[in-house]
Amino acid sequence: MKYPKEYLDEIKTRLKVSSVVSKVVSLKKRGKEFVGLSPFKNEKTPSFTVNDEKEFYHCFATSEHGNIFDFVMKTQNLRFGEAVKYLANIAGMQPYLFTKQDEEREKNWKEYLSIYSNYVDYYHDQLLKNEKLSYARDYLKNRSLGKDDVKKFKIGFVEKNPSFFDELKKEFSEKTLLESGLFYFDENKKIYVERFRGRLIFPINNISGQPIALGGRIIQNFDYLAKYINSPETPFFKKGSNLYNLDQARKLSNKLDHIFLVEGYMDVVGLCKNEIENVVANLGTSLTDKQILVLNQFFGDIIICFDGDESGYKAALRAAENSIKELKPEKQISFLFLPNKEDPDSFVNKNGKNFFLDFTKENKISIHQFIFSHYKKQTENNPSSMAVFEKKLRSITNTIKDSFIKKYILEYFLEKIAELTPHSNQNKNKFFKKKIKSLESTKKIYIESETITGVELKEYSLLYLILNNLSFFQSNIHLVENIKIFTEINKQILNSIIDKLKVKDQIDVDNLNLDQQLLDKINKFAPIKHILKNKPNNDDQVIDLLDDISKDLFNHGLELRIQELESKFSKDMSERTFNELKELKNERKSN
Ligand code: CTP
Ligand code: MN
Repeated sequence: MKYPKEYLDEIKTRLKVSSVVSKVVSLKKRGKEFVGLSPFKNEKTPSFTVNDEKEFYHCFATSEHGNIFDFVMKTQNLRFGEAVKYLANIAGMQPYLFTKQDEEREKNWKEYLSIYSNYVDYYHDQLLKNEKLSYARDYLKNRSLGKDDVKKFKIGFVEKNPSFFDELKKEFSEKTLLESGLFYFDENKKIYVERFRGRLIFPINNISGQPIALGGRIIQNFDYLAKYINSPETPFFKKGSNLYNLDQARKLSNKLDHIFLVEGYMDVVGLCKNEIENVVANLGTSLTDKQILVLNQFFGDIIICFDGDESGYKAALRAAENSIKELKPEKQISFLFLPNKEDPDSFVNKNGKNFFLDFTKENKISIHQFIFSHYKKQTENNPSSMAVFEKKLRSITNTIKDSFIKKYILEYFLEKIAELTPHSNQNKNKFFKKKIKSLESTKKIYIESETITGVELKEYSLLYLILNNLSFFQSNIHLVENIKIFTEINKQILNSIIDKLKVKDQIDVDNLNLDQQLLDKINKFAPIKHILKNKPNNDDQVIDLLDDISKDLFNHGLELRIQELESKFSKDMSERTFNELKELKNERKSN
């Protein structure tokens, strides 16, 4: 039986997550959170965090995540009801006594399930076997659906003048039959009418696979009939909380981390028929928070793939703006746009599984890319329009509940805006131009030396500069002692030059004993030689050049560190990593 939400909330209010967890795990306070060794993994460094404010625990090592009930269920191997009793007791509350109403509801629920399962079985059987229904089978054949597909989804067909109501009345009361939404009462004719008569029916199952509602499609076009209808909302069926085919698709979550979210029943059936079975549909309504959360329990990446027409695009935008709120660390929401006039069903039937999957790989974009590019299209290059643009992006970002994701996405938006507004970003621009120029002048050499990386070339320039100004560097050795070199062999050379400069008096290149091959390479490829050639070196010029090279090398190091932290951040999402990353990015900007 289901506990009322208020009772569970009362337990949660009385018990902090940290106090429940600390019975099992020893916790240390760190800022707003607590940390400790994960109870889900044998570990030496703590990756388990508890946040009392947000009422959850999270284990970064295993991705285990949940509230106090989940924690007790998982660590003590209890069922939900047992966990509630255990925690209520600790919270000093009476065990919950289910009332008459609860019992009544439980009884109704059982009847409801039984009505639906009878109904679905009966009309499924009819579709497969009733001789009079060959026109419905022909319709399916025309859409190239075979018996196996019909069976897999338990599709049925309700004949035009059905009489199953009388059959069900023998077992169920008229009241519960009416509540199921399968029938309605015609006040004029004083009869019960089957809502889905003359339609193919697609059972909508709850997560345990029991049918709780139907979608129905006409198979002959009449203008006065809606192409699809759904069961009305009932006490046991709420549209926004269910997804078509979730019961089957979720079983794939141990193999696959992504799920396709499509608009229609036939899109699900069409993809499954083509062996893409990690797919659900949102029943022709707009996507709800709840649906996102449910999908995220099973899958890390939700790929929203609506019809390739204007209404599909609009629905996708609505879905993006609504679901970005729920974006969580380690979770992703992406969008896939199909060519005009295609829907997932038509597209996969035309092109097959592999093409569809390759198309997905190449064309899916993340939710923030989609939102950015949508609003960018509506923006003109003037301050007023840009201001509206930035404001819109900021207000969308503000709806994001997770604070890390919020920061990260805002940073993405602002960086993309900065790229559009070079005037407010002059330093970066200057740096960029300079880089292009030096690339031009060394283009030929680059072609000749494809195997030498950009950073190696910079290092060659440094070594070239030093080798051609040995006496200057001998008296100014501090200038090169702390420059970071990335290529091992170049690092060794630089160190050995420095060592020798320190001990010897008068030195020239010949008595450095350097590897001749490397020397040749430096002399051939160091881009700087084009600048130094023909000009007598004076000290100021040498210092300027050294400055340029060491700055480039420093920036290269910065870039590597940023990449490293970005990949760390995408895994740990820790505030510390984020702040460090932000500092480095600021530093990059000011360089
Ligand atoms: N829908 C609905 N009511 C309608 C039309 C559509 O509830 N009058 C919902 C249904 O859930 C349907 C989905 O929106 O599956 C997509 O509708 P549509 O694109 O028109 O149908 P298709 O999925 O293309 O179905 P078919 O290929 O059978 O035409
Ligand atoms: Mn279609």
